[in-house]
Amino acid sequence: MVNGEVTPARREIDRGQAWDAAIARAKSIVDGRTHGASPGATKAVELLELARENDLDRGYAAETDGLAELLMSDVLRAGLYSFNLVNKRAKRPAGAPDKSLARKVNKVGIVGAGLMASQLALLFVRRLKVPVVLTDVDQERVDKGVGYVHAEIDKLLSKKRVSPDGANRLKALVSGSLDKAAFSDADFVIEAVFEELGVKQQVFAELEQHVSPEAILATNTSSLSITAMASKLRHPERVVGFHFFNPVAVLPLLEIVRGEQTDDASLATAFAVGKQLKKSSVLVKDASAFVVNRLLLRFLGEVLVTVDEGTPFDVADKALEPLGLPMTPLTLMQLVGPAIALHVGETLHEAFPDRFTVSENLAKFVKAGKKGVWIWDAQGNQSADPEVVELWTQGDKPSTSEQVRDRALSAIAEEIRIMLDEGVVAEAQDIDLCLILGAGWPFWNGGITPYLDRTGVSERVNGKPFLAPGVASVPAS
Ligand SMILES: NC(=O)c1ccc[n+]([C@@H]2O[C@H](COP(=O)([O-])OP(=O)(O)OC[C@H]3O[C@@H](n4cnc5c(N)ncnc54)[C@H](O)[C@@H]3O)[C@@H](O)[C@H]2O)c1
Repeated sequence: MVNGEVTPARREIDRGQAWDAAIARAKSIVDGRTHGASPGATKAVELLELARENDLDRGYAAETDGLAELLMSDVLRAGLYSFNLVNKRAKRPAGAPDKSLARKVNKVGIVGAGLMASQLALLFVRRLKVPVVLTDVDQERVDKGVGYVHAEIDKLLSKKRVSPDGANRLKALVSGSLDKAAFSDADFVIEAVFEELGVKQQVFAELEQHVSPEAILATNTSSLSITAMASKLRHPERVVGFHFFNPVAVLPLLEIVRGEQTDDASLATAFAVGKQLKKSSVLVKDASAFVVNRLLLRFLGEVLVTVDEGTPFDVADKALEPLGLPMTPLTLMQLVGPAIALHVGETLHEAFPDRFTVSENLAKFVKAGKKGVWIWDAQGNQSADPEVVELWTQGDKPSTSEQVRDRALSAIAEEIRIMLDEGVVAEAQDIDLCLILGAGWPFWNGGITPYLDRTGVSERVNGKPFLAPGVASVPAS
């Protein structure tokens, strides 16, 4: 640099450093998200790195070679499989009744004004643009729920995602009431109250005294039986499971559950509403915890067993990194809340005692009011909370990462086969669609069944792969 002037040589050095820094950052993102398991993402960064020192022709040639190599890989086929699931299968849900049976929804009622209910109110009013009424057990909670929706609409306004007029109209459509008579002209009422069968049955029985016989009664339950919830009603045929995932605005999946008595018109209405809400709906049989939670809990349960047996927390939790999941099982438990994980785990244990265990340590941990295993220091370094380590009684049979991974994958392969035998969903494709859209499992892995097939786990556990050759793998020549 002469008199503050930047020389061409200096500029070249700066550009080179910026390039190196960008490549290093891209590598660390790819590594963090895929742990080396997605060759496509790794190749894309390699090509960018190569571009710095090479001309366009060599760049094109390298791209062609890279594509030729990846085209014949099972991972690429798994990515194409996911693309078809999300873009085709999700648009025409397997088993959904004729859409002409759907009834129109001109007003929505929401029971409960808590975490899920407030998010549901926002989604319904934004997408359906019809009156939405919220209720809860006291005025304070009702006001908090309505206040949340209004504040979120104001945020959309400040980001210019809705016009001032539009925001006013949306806000005017959302109201709260302590009196369930406010639901008398609602066509679709969804409950998101505490996850207890008795409470939900009582809420539906009370609603039935106000709404018309055709009004849909939907439940956002994560694990309870739709059939049991409807059993004491005069019109059980209008009850459907309508299971959203938290955060509602982010996760596109909707598990729509048919109870034993649910009729086609109610189910068709549920699918039509799901479409208006711009969610991807999958039809699920009324079985404990449906699809996503059942599989996540089976997976988590297996990891917790290895910790109970003596495996260090970090070894057990990191063992699944090669799958490229959006977060580790114990981090997910921390996000969902250990009390909810325990509650759903208990429901599953009741339904399937042989396969779903409830860790005594987890129960102790929840009782002690602990919110998670992991704590982070100011630099972002993660370690197990010493109080949790102290509280957790561990055995003396630790597993290695490979053993933990093998056990968790075997468990999930077994559970998926049982779910398919039980008819929880129509096909393995629906399981993958649910895991991609409801749990953020990697698109490039095809959800999970292509991975289980490719790594030989399906064959070992169930004696056969889930998918025919060529469906999510390179067809045998
Ligand atoms: N939290 C999640 O991540 C999640 C995800 C999917 C589904 N769910 C399900 O959604 C439902 C609600 O969960 P949440 O996390 O929003 O709970 P929450 O505790 O935040 O909200 C529940 C609300 O229901 C109210 N309530 C209880 N009994 C009532 C009654 N009889 N009448 C009216 N209101 C009543 C409570 O006062 C509370 O405000 C549960 O069934 C849960 O399993 C939760």
